Amino acid sequence: MSDNIKVTIDNITVEVPNGTTILEAARMVGGDVAPITMCYYSKLKGSGGKCRTCLVEVSKGSEKDPRPMPKLVASCRTGVMDGMEVKSMTSERVKDAREGVTEFLLLNHPLDCPVCDQAGECHLQDLSYEQGKQGTRTDFTRRTFAPEDLGPYIQLHMNRCIMCFRCVYTAEQLTEQREHGVLDRGDHARISTCISKALEHDFIGNVIDVCPVGALTDKTFRFKNRVWFTKPVDAHRNCTNPKCCGEVRLWMRGKEVFRVTARKDEWGEVATASNGETGWICNECRFEKKDTADWIIEGPSRIQRTSVIAQGHYAGTVGTAGKSEKLIDKVIGKEPIYTLDIHKVSEVDNPNVHLSQIAGPAHSTDFKHDIKDR
Ligand code: SF4
Ligand code: FES
Repeated sequence: MSDNIKVTIDNITVEVPNGTTILEAARMVGGDVAPITMCYYSKLKGSGGKCRTCLVEVSKGSEKDPRPMPKLVASCRTGVMDGMEVKSMTSERVKDAREGVTEFLLLNHPLDCPVCDQAGECHLQDLSYEQGKQGTRTDFTRRTFAPEDLGPYIQLHMNRCIMCFRCVYTAEQLTEQREHGVLDRGDHARISTCISKALEHDFIGNVIDVCPVGALTDKTFRFKNRVWFTKPVDAHRNCTNPKCCGEVRLWMRGKEVFRVTARKDEWGEVATASNGETGWICNECRFEKKDTADWIIEGPSRIQRTSVIAQGHYAGTVGTAGKSEKLIDKVIGKEPIYTLDIHKVSEVDNPNVHLSQIAGPAHSTDFKHDIKDR
């Protein structure tokens, strides 16, 4: 007998193995149905439950007990039940709650995106654009910390930290000895090494990749370039470290390698490597191999088409967003913005208008037609 159970999220039913969380089920549906996660990281045991950006509404508990759950629940920490019905992007309550959570996460955030190395690949930036509110209801002084050196390669900007704990789990699960953690409690809580001890383990560089904001930055790259001016290229080398997969993403400008990172999947997490393991990379690959001769180049990376990094980058896309047109027929309620079909709303794609036959430059009057006819 199959152990699979059925769960319906935003009116799309999927079958998932027993024990799956709502978030993982929503990721199987894909697109905007899957909530943005700021603390959950599928590759890190114990992560999740800290940020509340993944709140969803359970409108039917299960087939056996169909009562709705009275409060919104964190989807990364709530398991699905057979017959459960969940609202994610179709719930007004969820929208309102996520706006509140985003406002809360930004309460102490310095909003220094113009000078932050994470700009262009920052999950908090995405969250505030997609699910945040314009403006804030608070005007008190934000808490500030001096930048802190965490060893030779990593710089901590505690002002930007959202206390997601991902870096702590990474250090705990990838290195033999964790040397940093969360000090103090409440609004005094902060990430630090107890006596500013250096983080020296050969896998500690992975904390930079898991940090959803620009709190942990790569000292070999910081302030050198904006990510959207660099071109991501997949490459590998035969790394001698047995725990390192050696499969990386080089961020290049011309022939120069500005930065080396692990490869990311469609959820912004370190992707699974070709050996089936999570593609964590060692410090040597990340910080010391900045020459193209060190690498066997595979080709341009596939990145999200919605990313600013996709500018002038034509290597295709990753993710489920491309399938969204199929999903939208089944979703009742709010239409996700990403499924906007530009050809239905734009006036400048009339197939009967041939630009080569228009004398001089084309004007909007050349395209005037009733778009409902299409
Ligand atoms: S430094 Fe980054 S990864 Fe670590 S808790 Fe803060 S936001 Fe999370
Ligand atoms: S992703 Fe679920 S609480 Fe943070």
